[in-house]
Amino acid sequence: MTIRNFARRTDFAMAAVAVSAHVGWADDHENPYTGDPAAIEEGQRLWAKAGCYSCHGETAEGAVGPDLTDDEWTYRPTDATLFKAIAVGRSGTNMVAWGNQLDPDEIWKIIAYLRSLYKGDPEKIIW
Ligand code: HEC
Repeated sequence: MTIRNFARRTDFAMAAVAVSAHVGWADDHENPYTGDPAAIEEGQRLWAKAGCYSCHGETAEGAVGPDLTDDEWTYRPTDATLFKAIAVGRSGTNMVAWGNQLDPDEIWKIIAYLRSLYKGDPEKIIW
């Protein structure tokens, strides 16, 4: 991990402490774990442990909740957008907030896992 990445991660972890009260996320936060094999493996474990599969399917192929492996997203699928969806949930839907059960590091690892499952158009990758 570079020093720059570490600083960014620490900064983001602190921002996430206020997650439920404050929803003003900057859009420039990137997942420090994208493409990191150990983090992806851990993310897969956390995906199972938290029970995300119960709505999104075993490997996020979609069920009650949307497919998270294709290139159809509700919003522009930046790292910050996915982080926010998981941490604070989507009000008015059964996607609840996980920010009190998963720490920011764990959320980033789950996102790294989801990115590793991506089957959409490679040209649409913005992360
Ligand atoms: C009770 C069912 C349920 C569970 C459990 C659940 N989700 Fe969701 N999730 C949903 C639904 C429904 C949506 C669509 C919300 C919307 O319309 O914006 C969603 C949306 C999302 C999105 C945003 C997708 C997009 O297109 O913007 C992500 C990312 C996500 N979930 C990840 C997770 C993760 C990670 C977990 C486990 C920690 C999880 N979900 C657990 C139902 C669930």
